[in-house]
Amino acid sequence: MKSSIGLIGLAVMGQNLALNIARKGYKVSVFNRTAQKTEEFVKNRVKGEEIEPHYDIKDFVESLERPRKIILMVKAGKPVDDTISQLLPYLEPGDLIIDGGNSHYMDTERRFKELSEKGILFLGMGVSGGEYGALYGPSLMPGGSREAYNLVEEILLKIAAKTEEGPCCTYVGERSAGHFVKMVHNGIEYAIMQAIAEVYHIMRDVLSLSSEEMSSIFEEWNRGELSSFLVEITYKILRKKDEETGKPMVDVILDKAEQKGTGKWTSQAALDLGIPTPSINLAVVERVISHFKDIRTRLSKLYNKRRSATQGSEEFLRDLRNSLFFAMFMAFSQGMWLIAEASKEFGYGVNLSEVLRIWKGGCIIRAKLIDTLRRYISNENAYLLENEEVMNLLKGKIDSLKNILKASIENEIPVPVLNSSYNYFMSLTEERLPANLIQAQRDFFGAHTFERVDREGVFHINWEEGE
Ligand code: ATR
Repeated sequence: MKSSIGLIGLAVMGQNLALNIARKGYKVSVFNRTAQKTEEFVKNRVKGEEIEPHYDIKDFVESLERPRKIILMVKAGKPVDDTISQLLPYLEPGDLIIDGGNSHYMDTERRFKELSEKGILFLGMGVSGGEYGALYGPSLMPGGSREAYNLVEEILLKIAAKTEEGPCCTYVGERSAGHFVKMVHNGIEYAIMQAIAEVYHIMRDVLSLSSEEMSSIFEEWNRGELSSFLVEITYKILRKKDEETGKPMVDVILDKAEQKGTGKWTSQAALDLGIPTPSINLAVVERVISHFKDIRTRLSKLYNKRRSATQGSEEFLRDLRNSLFFAMFMAFSQGMWLIAEASKEFGYGVNLSEVLRIWKGGCIIRAKLIDTLRRYISNENAYLLENEEVMNLLKGKIDSLKNILKASIENEIPVPVLNSSYNYFMSLTEERLPANLIQAQRDFFGAHTFERVDREGVFHINWEEGE
């Protein structure tokens, strides 16, 4: 009997996805560049699931039902192109390749075009939820042609995470829409993680709370409006002890944050499309700064931080909680606006509410807040702020945020994401920004012209005449 689907790339994500599909009753053929990994996978992890290992790419393709459906879970970049090139000689028009890696959307755009010319269907599919999600139900963001999606919809809906509003999978949109949306998902993830880290920093270095105390606070927050996967893992992380030293695990982890690039790509795309995503940008920058540990250590000896330990009052903790909510809201506001603009610019046809729906389960940024966002999002209000109820909700948080920013300044604690969410909101709600002065400066040194407030047209004046 032929397999329903094939999967190439047996690192942990690929293995788990193959097991997830097989456990839903589909026969899966698998292949990996290094045969040893395939052997180990079959030996150690396949327990009765219908998973057929292949060690030759031609045999692998021939083991699949027509039209063939092949999921790639290989490393992003050249490995995806290499694997596609190896497959092509054995594929026929109408066969489907699904790239489930974190490919750059521009690469997906190019591959979609190249494969379309050969009659091969292609989906660029974002997969979120980590190893656990891949095995028990990820959030899936497939983009490409609707025809291609229809071929695998049944399988994808079955393997995706489930919420009360259905499986966390939808046809996201045309061509590279799926990978674009997944990229922005990761950008939002960067901003929320950094905001949580800033709150932790204040708790640790201003309130002098122990890890256990912080864990209990995050655990309590996770029962309210901040309820989310990232807050949940934070309280679990904070209560974990290092077996070797008995210290809290977080205290023995070096403070250098790594990145694989999706946050940076989000900022780059946002700058290219002209959409403000300051919280995401600064979250990326802060990871970069974290890498300069040696410089930070030297400078910390040249500049002694003025820091006064404060007693953590109920009000202060409430202010921290409200600030985190505000920052999470702004991260989503910026991300959704970027997706809306990309959808318009690239003709993706993304349904913003559906994107939020499939982020309700399975993925890293799943959060109770998404239900609130879904009530207010539309193409005209993709940034989510243009609504009286939303404004009232945010107004209820802003004094808290101001208090926390004041405390962070008094204690010289860096809070780039909390701060940028405040400034993003304050800039967007400012009718008269000082950009008139910038226009004047541009016209002064470069004759770049300006518009006037009192009549139509484009103007340039000689600024030094008569000086
Ligand atoms: P990990 O997640 O274990 O760090 P990785 O290096 O990101 O692994 O690679 C993920 C998957 O992409 C693996 O299945 C890997 O195949 P190998 O087990 O043979 O390393 C696959 N991969 C990486 N580069 C590849 C390439 N150039 N061609 C085909 N597959 C490749």
